[in-house]
Amino acid sequence: MAKDVIIACDFPSAARTLRFLEQFEGERPYVKIGMELFYAAGPNIVRAVRDRGHRVFLDLKLCDIPNTVGRSMRVLRELGADMVNVHAFGTKRMMEAAVEGLTRPDGSRPLLVAVTQLTSTDETRMREELLIDRPLEDVVLHYAANARDAGLDGVVCSPLEAARVHARCGAGFLTVTPGVRFSDADAGDQARITTPAGARALGSDYIVVGRPITGADDPVATYRRCVKEFLGGSAT
Ligand code: C5P
Repeated sequence: MAKDVIIACDFPSAARTLRFLEQFEGERPYVKIGMELFYAAGPNIVRAVRDRGHRVFLDLKLCDIPNTVGRSMRVLRELGADMVNVHAFGTKRMMEAAVEGLTRPDGSRPLLVAVTQLTSTDETRMREELLIDRPLEDVVLHYAANARDAGLDGVVCSPLEAARVHARCGAGFLTVTPGVRFSDADAGDQARITTPAGARALGSDYIVVGRPITGADDPVATYRRCVKEFLGGSAT
Protein backbone atom coordinates (compact mmCIF):
# COMPACT_ATOMS: atom_id res chain seq x y z
CA MET A 1 0.00 0.00 0.00
CA ALA A 2 1.24 3.48 -0.88
CA LYS A 3 2.37 5.45 2.13
CA ASP A 4 2.92 9.14 1.83
CA VAL A 5 3.39 12.49 3.52
CA ILE A 6 0.51 14.93 2.96
CA ILE A 7 1.26 18.64 3.41
CA ALA A 8 -1.58 20.52 5.12
CA CYS A 9 -1.72 23.74 3.08
CA ASP A 10 -3.58 25.81 5.65
CA PHE A 11 -3.15 29.11 3.80
CA PRO A 12 -5.65 31.96 3.47
CA SER A 13 -5.53 32.30 -0.33
CA ALA A 14 -5.00 30.46 -3.60
CA ALA A 15 -2.10 32.73 -4.51
CA ARG A 16 -0.20 31.89 -1.31
CA THR A 17 -0.84 28.20 -1.77
CA LEU A 18 0.30 28.09 -5.38
CA ARG A 19 3.37 30.18 -4.55
CA PHE A 20 4.19 27.77 -1.74
CA LEU A 21 3.82 24.75 -4.03
CA GLU A 22 6.00 26.29 -6.74
CA GLN A 23 9.01 25.91 -4.47
CA PHE A 24 8.79 22.15 -4.89
CA GLU A 25 9.66 22.33 -8.60
CA GLY A 26 9.88 18.73 -9.88
CA GLU A 27 8.41 17.20 -6.72
CA ARG A 28 4.66 16.89 -6.46
CA PRO A 29 3.75 16.43 -2.80
CA TYR A 30 0.32 15.19 -1.77
CA VAL A 31 -1.59 18.30 -0.63
CA LYS A 32 -4.31 18.70 1.95
CA ILE A 33 -6.81 21.47 1.31
CA GLY A 34 -8.73 22.27 4.46
CA MET A 35 -11.55 24.59 5.41
CA GLU A 36 -9.54 27.81 5.58
CA LEU A 37 -8.23 27.56 2.04
CA PHE A 38 -11.41 26.06 0.56
CA TYR A 39 -13.61 28.77 2.05
CA ALA A 40 -11.20 31.51 0.98
CA ALA A 41 -10.39 30.29 -2.52
CA GLY A 42 -13.44 28.24 -3.49
CA PRO A 43 -13.68 24.88 -5.27
CA ASN A 44 -11.36 25.98 -8.09
CA ILE A 45 -8.38 25.66 -5.77
CA VAL A 46 -8.86 21.88 -5.83
CA ARG A 47 -8.74 21.88 -9.63
CA ALA A 48 -5.77 24.25 -9.70
CA VAL A 49 -3.70 22.08 -7.38
CA ARG A 50 -4.72 18.92 -9.24
CA ASP A 51 -3.81 20.52 -12.57
CA ARG A 52 -0.29 21.07 -11.25
CA GLY A 53 0.04 17.33 -10.74
CA HIS A 54 -0.55 17.05 -6.99
CA ARG A 55 -2.87 14.57 -5.35
CA VAL A 56 -5.42 16.30 -3.12
CA PHE A 57 -6.93 15.36 0.22
CA LEU A 58 -9.97 17.63 0.60
CA ASP A 59 -10.34 17.93 4.36
CA LEU A 60 -13.76 19.52 4.90
CA LYS A 61 -14.86 17.16 7.72
CA LEU A 62 -18.52 17.05 6.77
CA CYS A 63 -20.97 16.44 9.60
CA ASP A 64 -24.69 17.04 9.03
CA ILE A 65 -27.88 15.07 8.44
CA PRO A 66 -27.37 12.15 6.02
CA ASN A 67 -29.32 13.76 3.17
CA THR A 68 -27.28 16.97 3.28
CA VAL A 69 -23.97 15.13 3.48
CA GLY A 70 -24.93 12.79 0.64
CA ARG A 71 -25.94 15.66 -1.62
CA SER A 72 -22.83 17.65 -0.77
CA MET A 73 -20.67 14.66 -1.62
CA ARG A 74 -22.30 14.50 -5.06
CA VAL A 75 -20.94 18.01 -5.61
CA LEU A 76 -17.50 17.31 -4.18
CA ARG A 77 -16.98 14.14 -6.23
CA GLU A 78 -16.70 16.29 -9.38
CA LEU A 79 -13.77 18.35 -8.09
CA GLY A 80 -11.16 15.68 -8.69
CA ALA A 81 -9.94 15.24 -5.10
CA ASP A 82 -8.26 11.92 -4.31
CA MET A 83 -9.48 11.77 -0.72
CA VAL A 84 -12.29 13.46 1.22
CA ASN A 85 -13.60 13.10 4.76
CA VAL A 86 -16.49 13.27 7.20
CA HIS A 87 -16.81 13.20 10.99
CA ALA A 88 -17.57 9.67 12.24
CA PHE A 89 -19.57 11.43 14.96
CA GLY A 90 -22.27 11.98 12.31
CA THR A 91 -23.29 8.29 12.62
CA LYS A 92 -23.13 5.26 10.32
CA ARG A 93 -26.19 6.40 8.40
CA MET A 94 -24.51 9.67 7.59
CA MET A 95 -21.33 7.90 6.51
CA GLU A 96 -23.31 5.52 4.27
CA ALA A 97 -24.98 8.51 2.66
CA ALA A 98 -21.53 10.02 2.12
CA VAL A 99 -20.29 6.88 0.31
CA GLU A 100 -23.39 6.82 -1.84
CA GLY A 101 -23.17 10.50 -2.73
CA LEU A 102 -19.48 10.28 -3.51
CA THR A 103 -19.79 7.32 -5.88
CA ARG A 104 -19.86 8.39 -9.53
CA PRO A 105 -22.15 6.74 -12.08
CA ASP A 106 -19.19 4.61 -13.30
CA GLY A 107 -18.65 3.28 -9.77
CA SER A 108 -15.42 5.19 -9.09
CA ARG A 109 -15.02 7.52 -6.14
CA PRO A 110 -12.33 9.33 -4.14
CA LEU A 111 -11.11 7.66 -0.97
CA LEU A 112 -13.36 8.47 1.96
CA VAL A 113 -12.06 8.58 5.51
CA ALA A 114 -13.70 9.57 8.79
CA VAL A 115 -12.35 11.77 11.54
CA THR A 116 -12.57 9.87 14.83
CA GLN A 117 -11.57 12.33 17.54
CA LEU A 118 -9.62 15.44 16.59
CA THR A 119 -6.00 15.11 17.58
CA SER A 120 -6.35 18.34 19.57
CA THR A 121 -8.88 16.63 21.86
CA ASP A 122 -7.68 14.80 24.94
CA GLU A 123 -9.54 12.54 27.32
CA THR A 124 -10.21 15.26 29.90
CA ARG A 125 -11.86 17.54 27.31
CA MET A 126 -13.82 14.62 25.94
CA ARG A 127 -15.12 13.77 29.41
CA GLU A 128 -15.68 17.28 30.76
CA GLU A 129 -16.84 19.15 27.66
CA LEU A 130 -18.35 16.46 25.45
CA LEU A 131 -19.64 14.27 28.32
CA ILE A 132 -18.17 11.16 26.72
CA ASP A 133 -17.14 9.18 29.75
CA ARG A 134 -15.10 6.47 28.05
CA PRO A 135 -11.39 6.04 27.41
CA LEU A 136 -10.45 8.05 24.33
CA GLU A 137 -8.98 5.01 22.65
CA ASP A 138 -12.25 3.07 23.00
CA VAL A 139 -14.10 5.95 21.35
CA VAL A 140 -11.59 6.13 18.49
CA LEU A 141 -11.76 2.37 17.88
CA HIS A 142 -15.54 2.32 18.06
CA TYR A 143 -15.83 5.20 15.57
CA ALA A 144 -13.29 3.48 13.31
CA ALA A 145 -15.34 0.26 13.32
CA ASN A 146 -18.47 2.29 12.50
CA ALA A 147 -16.64 3.87 9.56
CA ARG A 148 -15.49 0.47 8.31
CA ASP A 149 -19.03 -0.93 8.65
CA ALA A 150 -20.39 2.03 6.67
CA GLY A 151 -18.02 1.20 3.80
CA LEU A 152 -15.39 3.89 4.30
CA ASP A 153 -11.74 3.36 3.41
CA GLY A 154 -10.17 4.49 6.66
CA VAL A 155 -10.00 7.05 9.41
CA VAL A 156 -8.18 10.17 10.43
CA CYS A 157 -6.71 9.48 13.85
CA SER A 158 -3.64 10.06 15.96
CA PRO A 159 -0.58 8.03 14.95
CA LEU A 160 -0.69 6.71 18.50
CA GLU A 161 -3.94 4.93 17.58
CA ALA A 162 -2.96 3.62 14.15
CA ALA A 163 -1.86 0.15 15.23
CA ARG A 164 -5.01 -0.45 17.26
CA VAL A 165 -7.18 0.75 14.40
CA HIS A 166 -5.46 -1.70 12.04
CA ALA A 167 -5.85 -4.51 14.57
CA ARG A 168 -9.57 -3.78 14.90
CA CYS A 169 -10.47 -2.87 11.31
CA GLY A 170 -7.89 -4.69 9.20
CA ALA A 171 -4.45 -3.86 7.83
CA GLY A 172 -5.95 -2.46 4.61
CA PHE A 173 -8.09 0.06 6.47
CA LEU A 174 -6.29 3.38 6.03
CA THR A 175 -4.97 5.43 8.91
CA VAL A 176 -4.40 9.07 7.99
CA THR A 177 -2.62 10.71 10.87
CA PRO A 178 -2.10 14.38 11.73
CA GLY A 179 -0.45 15.28 15.01
CA VAL A 180 3.08 14.79 13.69
CA ARG A 181 5.96 16.86 15.01
CA PHE A 182 9.73 16.62 14.75
CA SER A 183 11.44 15.58 17.94
CA ASP A 184 13.08 19.02 18.21
CA ALA A 185 9.87 21.11 17.72
CA ASP A 186 6.91 22.58 19.59
CA ALA A 187 3.64 20.60 19.80
CA GLY A 188 1.46 23.74 19.40
CA ASP A 189 -2.24 22.87 19.87
CA GLN A 190 -1.82 19.17 18.96
CA ALA A 191 -2.24 16.87 21.96
CA ARG A 192 -1.68 13.30 20.73
CA ILE A 193 1.51 13.54 18.72
CA THR A 194 4.53 11.62 17.50
CA THR A 195 7.45 12.09 15.10
CA PRO A 196 7.39 10.98 11.44
CA ALA A 197 9.60 8.00 12.31
CA GLY A 198 7.32 7.21 15.24
CA ALA A 199 4.30 7.32 12.93
CA ARG A 200 6.06 4.90 10.60
CA ALA A 201 6.79 2.51 13.46
CA LEU A 202 3.15 2.72 14.57
CA GLY A 203 1.88 1.82 11.09
CA SER A 204 0.36 5.10 9.83
CA ASP A 205 -0.48 4.97 6.12
CA TYR A 206 -0.44 8.72 5.51
CA ILE A 207 0.91 11.43 7.78
CA VAL A 208 -0.56 14.91 7.53
CA VAL A 209 1.97 17.59 8.37
CA GLY A 210 1.13 21.28 8.32
CA ARG A 211 2.91 23.95 10.28
CA PRO A 212 6.20 22.07 10.76
CA ILE A 213 6.58 22.24 6.94
CA THR A 214 4.62 25.36 5.93
CA GLY A 215 6.19 27.42 8.72
CA ALA A 216 9.74 26.17 8.21
CA ASP A 217 12.55 28.40 6.96
CA ASP A 218 13.13 25.84 4.21
CA PRO A 219 9.83 24.02 3.56
CA VAL A 220 11.23 21.84 0.77
CA ALA A 221 14.11 20.55 2.89
CA THR A 222 11.74 20.02 5.82
CA TYR A 223 9.29 18.11 3.60
CA ARG A 224 12.15 15.90 2.37
CA ARG A 225 13.27 15.27 5.94
CA CYS A 226 9.73 14.28 6.79
CA VAL A 227 9.46 11.90 3.82
CA LYS A 228 12.80 10.36 4.68
CA GLU A 229 11.88 9.82 8.32
CA PHE A 230 8.43 8.48 7.49
CA LEU A 231 9.19 6.26 4.52
CA GLY A 232 12.44 4.89 5.82
CA GLY A 233 16.02 6.00 5.75
CA SER A 234 17.57 7.52 8.79
CA ALA A 235 15.29 8.83 11.50
CA THR A 236 16.45 11.90 13.32
O1 C5P B 1 -0.15 22.25 11.38
P1 C5P B 1 -0.47 20.84 11.78
O2 C5P B 1 0.63 19.86 11.44
O3 C5P B 1 -0.95 20.71 13.22
O4 C5P B 1 -1.69 20.48 10.82
C1 C5P B 1 -2.47 19.33 10.99
C2 C5P B 1 -3.60 19.38 10.00
O5 C5P B 1 -4.39 18.23 10.15
C3 C5P B 1 -4.51 20.59 10.16
O6 C5P B 1 -4.86 21.01 8.85
C4 C5P B 1 -5.72 20.05 10.87
O7 C5P B 1 -6.92 20.68 10.45
C5 C5P B 1 -5.74 18.59 10.43
N1 C5P B 1 -6.37 17.63 11.32
C6 C5P B 1 -5.98 17.42 12.62
N2 C5P B 1 -6.62 16.49 13.40
C7 C5P B 1 -7.62 15.77 12.90
C8 C5P B 1 -8.02 15.97 11.58
C9 C5P B 1 -7.37 16.91 10.80
O8 C5P B 1 -5.04 18.05 13.07
N3 C5P B 1 -8.18 14.83 13.65
